[in-house]
Amino acid sequence: MQSYIIKGGEKIEGKTNSSGSKNSSLPILAATILNKGKTTLKNVPNIHDTKIMFDIMKLLGCNIQEEKGKIIIDSRNIDNYEIPDELMRQMRSSVILAGAILGRCKKATFSYPGGCDIGSRPIDLHLKAFKDLGIDIKEENGEIYCQADDMLDGTITLDFPSVGATENIILAATLSNKTICIKNAAMEPEIVDLQNIINKMGGNISGAGTKDIKIVGVEKLEKELEYEVMPDRIEIGTLLCAAAITKGNINIKNVRIEHILPIVYKLEEMGCEITLKEKEISLISKNRLKACNIKTMPYPGFPTDMQPIIASALGVAKGTSIVVENIFENRYKYLSELKRMGAKVAIEGRTAIIKGIKRYDSAKVEATDLRGGAALILAALNANGKTIISNVGYILRGYENIDEKLRKLGANIYLREGE
Ligand code: UD1
Repeated sequence: MQSYIIKGGEKIEGKTNSSGSKNSSLPILAATILNKGKTTLKNVPNIHDTKIMFDIMKLLGCNIQEEKGKIIIDSRNIDNYEIPDELMRQMRSSVILAGAILGRCKKATFSYPGGCDIGSRPIDLHLKAFKDLGIDIKEENGEIYCQADDMLDGTITLDFPSVGATENIILAATLSNKTICIKNAAMEPEIVDLQNIINKMGGNISGAGTKDIKIVGVEKLEKELEYEVMPDRIEIGTLLCAAAITKGNINIKNVRIEHILPIVYKLEEMGCEITLKEKEISLISKNRLKACNIKTMPYPGFPTDMQPIIASALGVAKGTSIVVENIFENRYKYLSELKRMGAKVAIEGRTAIIKGIKRYDSAKVEATDLRGGAALILAALNANGKTIISNVGYILRGYENIDEKLRKLGANIYLREGE
């Protein structure tokens, strides 16, 4: 068990660079299984979730090397199509490997993924989409056996624009002799990144970033290529909020401005001064933040992953804010921990009513999930005194060296072994 020790009161000030996107790296790593060649990836974050992905991919037969910050994946000799249950349980995103393995091996065996930290997170949309693709699915003793002898042409309409299900359909359908259209697809930028790398491998996908995606199957992908993963829009949002909550100022480089606009608009509403350049963003926070209302929505709406982080900043804003979580049904666990730090919050179903206090108190708190953990870091940066956040394994799943990055920006934060 590891903890963060944070002494609050220091401003977040200075320049930093974004890391590569976690949510883009995971499906992109899965996509490298489709390429019977060597894929070199730049900007893959060094986090727990990408390490789990490497472990599963090695078991499948991928050779993975790290050289000067680049990840080189040789997928020529894939000889296994089964994902062991213990690895499947470690990470929700392991489910997107199913589509990639099916694409490459025409069969896949896996179990239900882990991760019920923010809601029940079923995979029914993924399995229904596989069935619609003509994939035969059998479930026995908790294992899911998929066989893709001959896929069907046609259109798959998603009941909800699930990010993972959209990615899984793309991964399963890329290597086939059929044309598949997805209606009501997720429009997140990470789907565009996935389309871009697959097309660079020789695939034929169009429409990513819109509700209608078309996948014209190709016989094989066999290229040597290099690809740079897009910046992590949630990490960027987290760093902006860290500067906002400490009345600091920050400049972040390697930013895709169009990806973070929903976050920028809210921070401006909260009183922050923001300057946007081609690939960088600066934020200055001079006064006490102002309350505002947030509703999470699929992209291009306000991202659910930023909900706990911005709510943490709203906890010390002037006035009352209303936050509505529309994507995950159980994403307010972290609020009980924020309450230990003095937050004045009431929860009614999917709505949280946050009455801003002047400043958080330090306390002993526990990370309940990845983004909820980040929300606690922000509160601790603002707090009066020393906060100890335990169970930070959750945070390490998705943030690359967050303590080091924040320290370089002036924060007093250290990682400690033990509670
Ligand atoms: C991805 C992101 C996650 C983000 C989420 C929503 C990755 C690795 N993770 O997760 O950080 O919070 O998108 O932007 O990219 N659902 C079903 N059945 C399914 C699939 C999903 O009911 O088969 C529901 C989920 O429970 C949830 C909603 O659909 O309520 C959205 O989930 P989805 O878009 O699939 O999120 P993930 O791909 O898991």
